[in-house]
Amino acid sequence: MNAMLETRALCKSFGGLAVTQNLNLSLAAGARHALIGPNGAGKTTLINQLTGVLRPSGGSVWLDGVDITRMTQNERVARGLSRTFQINTLFPQLTPLEAVTNVICERERTHLTLLQRRFFRLSRRRAEIDEAYALLEQLSLARDCLVQTHALAYGKQRLLEIALALAARPRVLLLDEPAAGVPEGESDELFEVLGALSKDISILLIDHDMSLVFRFADRITVLVSGAELMTGTPTEIAADARVREVYLGKRN
Ligand SMILES: Nc1ncnc2c1ncn2[C@@H]1O[C@H](COP(=O)(O)OP(=O)(O)O)[C@@H](O)[C@H]1O
Ligand SMILES: [Mg+2]
Repeated sequence: MNAMLETRALCKSFGGLAVTQNLNLSLAAGARHALIGPNGAGKTTLINQLTGVLRPSGGSVWLDGVDITRMTQNERVARGLSRTFQINTLFPQLTPLEAVTNVICERERTHLTLLQRRFFRLSRRRAEIDEAYALLEQLSLARDCLVQTHALAYGKQRLLEIALALAARPRVLLLDEPAAGVPEGESDELFEVLGALSKDISILLIDHDMSLVFRFADRITVLVSGAELMTGTPTEIAADARVREVYLGKRN
């Protein structure tokens, strides 16, 4: 069976600095896979190569059996690969309902011919707004759907980023520190929402909060200096002496 998302011998260097070293990562369909590792381990750089922001120095990236290494970011999104960003990238003046509706309209537009697109632009359609509202409801944002984004609590803004990624109807969702900067009380809600997402979506999660990662993930990869230290179940990872030494040991 094909992996849903795969890297094969992926390498990336910045000058003399090797930031991704011969990485073979594999996500099964429906995976809840976490990527952990110290600051500077190369986690975000990996996500940037998966999404097409960065060109790898070597190796390849595969989505459901298709080599996407040379595809643009938009082509990857259209094929079902979505991400959230570590840094807040929202439009502050838009409401969640407007922002999510825009993404849904964009998603629909990419399947239209040029002539159809001209008419589509004229009519923001009811169906897209309904879908956006349903998605916001699923992410506990329904009550805030008409509030301008800048006025939302930070935890809600992070939920909105996930809603925007989901609006593209991904098969694979990449979450780069979705709870970064979120106060503790609000991060529980965020992980509740993530835990309830459909298994039709495979998820790769980067996070620093080990208790959250161990609750969420069914597989964990530990990255150190751009190389895979080990991949295993949460139990295997927690029991591994090398992992404790390089990562968990420092935190506990
Ligand atoms: N565009 C870049 N140019 C040069 N070095 C970079 C660039 N992006 C990241 N790096 C370096 O690559 C390493 C990994 O960074 P990053 O992927 O952000 O780590 P992580 O997300 O695991 O904290 C760091 O040493 C960082 O300084
Ligand atoms: Mg990072």
